[in-house]
Amino acid sequence: MPRSGVRSLPLCVATAALISLTVPLRAACQAAVRPLPKPVTTGGMALNEALARRRSCRAFTDTPVTLQQISQVCWAAQGVTEPVKGLRTAPAAMALYAVRLFVVDRTGMAEYLPKVHALRTVRDGDLLPAARALALNPATSGEPPVVLLLCIDPAALQARAGAKAERFALLEAGHVTQNILLQVTALGLASVPVGGVDEAKASEALRLPEGVRAVYAMPVGKARTER
Ligand SMILES: Cc1cc2nc3c(=O)[nH]c(=O)nc-3n(C[C@H](O)[C@H](O)[C@H](O)COP(=O)(O)O)c2cc1C
Repeated sequence: MPRSGVRSLPLCVATAALISLTVPLRAACQAAVRPLPKPVTTGGMALNEALARRRSCRAFTDTPVTLQQISQVCWAAQGVTEPVKGLRTAPAAMALYAVRLFVVDRTGMAEYLPKVHALRTVRDGDLLPAARALALNPATSGEPPVVLLLCIDPAALQARAGAKAERFALLEAGHVTQNILLQVTALGLASVPVGGVDEAKASEALRLPEGVRAVYAMPVGKARTER
C-alpha cells in the first residue's frame, strides 16, 4: 500500500466523524430559524383609526395570537421595506439599527430577524411566566399569550455615534414601539409598553445576549373587555 494510503485511513475516519457531527448540527441550526408568513403591506385598518383606537391595556385573555399576527407585528416593528439598503418600517440613526426584538411565547424565546423576516429560536421552553412577570404589574391581569421584549444594543452605534449611542438607540426603540402598538391595535389585539421592566432581572431570567439591554416589555393578546 502506498504511503499516502496508510495516511488516508485515519483521515477517512476523521472526515466521516466530522460529517456525522456537522450534518445534525447544520440541521439544528436551520431548524432554529423559522420563516414567518408574508406580512400584509397594504390595506388593513386606516392609520387614523388605529391612532384613535390605540390604548394601553392591562387586562388580557389567553386567546392565542396567530403566527400571521406575530409576523405582522414583527414586520411593523422592524420589517425591511427597502431591500437595496435594507431600510425598515421604523427610522434608525444612521440606519445602524441598534434595537433587537424578542418574541416570547409558550414554546420559548425567539429573535426577529428583519433581513429574512424570520424568527430565530434563542431559547426553548416555557419562558412565558418569566416574561409576563417582567411585563405585568399588579394592576395587570390575565395571561397574554405573547410578550415582546424590546432591547437596545448601543454597541451597534458606538463607533459612529459615540456618546450619543444610547440616546439614539432609545429613540429608535420609541419608533419601533409605536409601530408595534399601532399594528397591534389594527389587528384587534392589545398591548401596553412597560418601560419599568427590570433590566437586570430580564437579562437573568431570559439570558439575554451580552450587551443587550431590555427597555420595553409588551404583553400582546386580546383585551379582556372590548373598549
Ligand atoms: C416610557 C413609558 C413607560 C411606561 N411604563 C409603563 C409601565 O411600566 N407599566 C404600565 O402599566 N404602563 C406603562 N406605560 C404606559 C403608560 O402608563 C400609558 O401610556 C399612559 O397611562 C397613557 O395611556 P395610553 O397609553 O392608554 O394612552 C409606559 C409608557 C411609556 C411611554
